[in-house]
Amino acid sequence: MSNTATLATLSGSDPAADPNWWRQASVYQIYPRSFSDSNGDGLGDLKGITAKVPYLKDLGIDAVWLSPFYPSALADGGYDVDDYRDVDPKLGTLADFDAMSAALHAAGIKLIADIVPNHSSNRHEWFQEALASPRGSAARERYIFRDGKGENGEIPPSDWESVFGGPAWERITEPDGTPGQWYMHIFAKEQPDLNWSSREIRDDFLKTLRFWSDRGVDGFRVDVAHALTKDLTEPLLSKVELNPAGTGADGHDDGSHPFWDRDEVHEIYVEWREVFNEYNPPRTAVAEAWVHASRRARYASPQGLGQAFNFDLLQADFNAEEFREIITRNLAEATESGASSTWVFSNHDVVRHATRYGLPQGGGRHAKGQDGKGWLLAGAPAEELDVELGLRRARAATLLMLALPGSAYLYQGEELGLQEVAEIPDAQRQDPTFFRNKGVEIGRDGCRVPLPWQTEGTSFGFGDGAAHLPQPAWFSRYAVAAEDGVEGSTLEFYRRALKLRRELQTSEELDWLDSGSADVLRFSRPGGWQTVANFGDEPVELPAGEVLVSSGPLDGGLLPGNTTAWLR
Ligand code: NOJ
Repeated sequence: MSNTATLATLSGSDPAADPNWWRQASVYQIYPRSFSDSNGDGLGDLKGITAKVPYLKDLGIDAVWLSPFYPSALADGGYDVDDYRDVDPKLGTLADFDAMSAALHAAGIKLIADIVPNHSSNRHEWFQEALASPRGSAARERYIFRDGKGENGEIPPSDWESVFGGPAWERITEPDGTPGQWYMHIFAKEQPDLNWSSREIRDDFLKTLRFWSDRGVDGFRVDVAHALTKDLTEPLLSKVELNPAGTGADGHDDGSHPFWDRDEVHEIYVEWREVFNEYNPPRTAVAEAWVHASRRARYASPQGLGQAFNFDLLQADFNAEEFREIITRNLAEATESGASSTWVFSNHDVVRHATRYGLPQGGGRHAKGQDGKGWLLAGAPAEELDVELGLRRARAATLLMLALPGSAYLYQGEELGLQEVAEIPDAQRQDPTFFRNKGVEIGRDGCRVPLPWQTEGTSFGFGDGAAHLPQPAWFSRYAVAAEDGVEGSTLEFYRRALKLRRELQTSEELDWLDSGSADVLRFSRPGGWQTVANFGDEPVELPAGEVLVSSGPLDGGLLPGNTTAWLR
């Protein structure tokens, strides 16, 4: 399996100017409100990130992906944006952003900003203007307003459901005080969907892309990239017609769904690409697009966003055959689109992989996200969780991932082996999923609990005040201070693997080798470097060679179960 683009072709030039820097980058996701709090208000902030740049540099990552840091009422963790061209005052200022960006760049780390084009927040000045303006006005045209059905317009325009539960339509009160039109929101009601057939919206986002690119942002992560364009031809289809087999909206693989993955969405990204290419090196983008695998390449095209997430490993069980199939298919897809592949096990939307792999189901199935239901773990009983096995498998899976060609996306805290926090009191939960599902889905707060930096003290060194989501006592064990410099700790393991990955990756080729067992995956990469991953419980013999790193202790010449090793 090969890809003609090689990193070697770029050697000798200024690495910061390398247009292909993203192809095999290790990208560390920071959820800013939970990373590091510089002013003790309980919320992480930009100065907190700047203070931790030495930590990020030591970790050995190539880029930071920063989840939304824009002004927001936090109805959806910052994915409800009040102003696309500013910093949330709770997190800092534009000057703090510039200082953070400069510190990251000085440490050789690129910066990827999350951009949220499908919806604004309901506090955005556009939405406020729409509410104050009459039906049919230009201000309402920036969103998706429709009259309701029924005698008095009291029934929503369609039976579509929000991803977070409940109807995807919310009724407003007209400026004269009467019950009025409905607006569409695929996510929370505080996240009205923008109307992407409006030229004004399109132009304004081009301005936003330039605004951040001019400030030194190297790339963008595009939130729900597959939802922007909609077919709202009347009569609107019913959810029963859309989803006859109950497979979830994303089961559509032909662009026929009225709001997921329509063909026209790519016209937007062609325009974005023109803006990206105004810069040197061109700005990059990665699509968050939960689409049928056969349609992912469109998002990753060089004329479009250039790269797309595949969440396949994240949804797979810890199973050799499943991993092999996913890796093979995705590398082939990436070669076809000209992009490089992406790999990810954990992010701010799913149960941490160290926890998923410790549950009896054995992997990611229960954290799956296609139909808006079930992508969030509905509270696994603590007694069913095997913490040690979960972490062991998570480390094995991560080491395998870091050996793959393509970009590896890491989520803050996974380098500490952090587990999901299940024990958040209902009164302290924040995720709209929890509220809109009346607690049936416990939501995503458990992976968003602020990081432990110290083994004790107020908020475990996250800040000087209580953290905005409560940290359990057992966080102490996973603190940076507990792992820093400690041989065999998850932190030291990540540091070693990330450093080696940088040294070892020369091209984007991978060759499968015979492993001699259905439970074991074995492959080589150019440069005489190979990976062996044992998904079974029984030890297997290690091939000859120098062990460069392993995800857990080895047993002489044996590779224990649930363990991965790199050899040369
Ligand atoms: C995907 C983001 O990752 C998630 O956190 C958010 O809730 C939705 N998009 C809506 O913006």
